[in-house]
Amino acid sequence: MRELSLHILDIVQNSIAAGARTVDVAISEDEAADLLTIEVADDGAGIPRDILESVLDPFYTSRTTRKVGLGLPLFREAARAAGGDLSIESVPGRGTTVRATFRMSHIDRAPLGDMAETLALLVVCNPDVRFRYMHWRGHAAFSLDSDEFRRGLGDDIAPTNPALAGVLRDVIREGLAPVQRA
Ligand SMILES: Nc1ncnc2c1ncn2[C@@H]1O[C@H](COP(=O)(O)OP(=O)(O)OP(=O)(O)O)[C@@H](O)[C@H]1O
Ligand SMILES: [Mg+2]
Repeated sequence: MRELSLHILDIVQNSIAAGARTVDVAISEDEAADLLTIEVADDGAGIPRDILESVLDPFYTSRTTRKVGLGLPLFREAARAAGGDLSIESVPGRGTTVRATFRMSHIDRAPLGDMAETLALLVVCNPDVRFRYMHWRGHAAFSLDSDEFRRGLGDDIAPTNPALAGVLRDVIREGLAPVQRA
């Protein structure tokens, strides 16, 4: 079973490929409702209306290196396997929002995986993209804005310095700990 963080990585890569300047990743763990919601919203090129239907078809892709696009169909499959589903809203020229839901307690619900590692890599590998991350669980919440993080670093450290990934990963891990305990 694939960790959900790997699906999130795929979905965010789509946003980056679509030229997004800002990508919002929101995760909500609502145990009372037994509902996990993962949302990725971007301000990229959007998906033309006539192909919006077909992007969930594993044989559709706008990529030219291979014929099959798998990111969205596989994420939808993971959601459906756990009693949830996936929806896409997209406005050409404005952006795209992908939302997946899961029954938290479902036996086939994949574990979330290492969001700290995933996010740290995304931020460090994409210095021109602003990432905003929000993660709620019960009354606990953690949020991170990559622009604020970079501003906090000052001018001494280049935003692409590979050592940053480790620093950022630890910052996120620490911030997420109380959320994961909640
Ligand atoms: N956020 C987005 N903004 C604009 N277009 C998108 C977005 N997400 C997906 N698409 C479109 O949907 C298609 C299918 O996406 P999907 O992730 O399923 O496959 P892929 O990215 O083509 O290939 P893979 O993910 O397997 O490398 C993409 O090729 C792209 O045209
Ligand atoms: Mg993709």
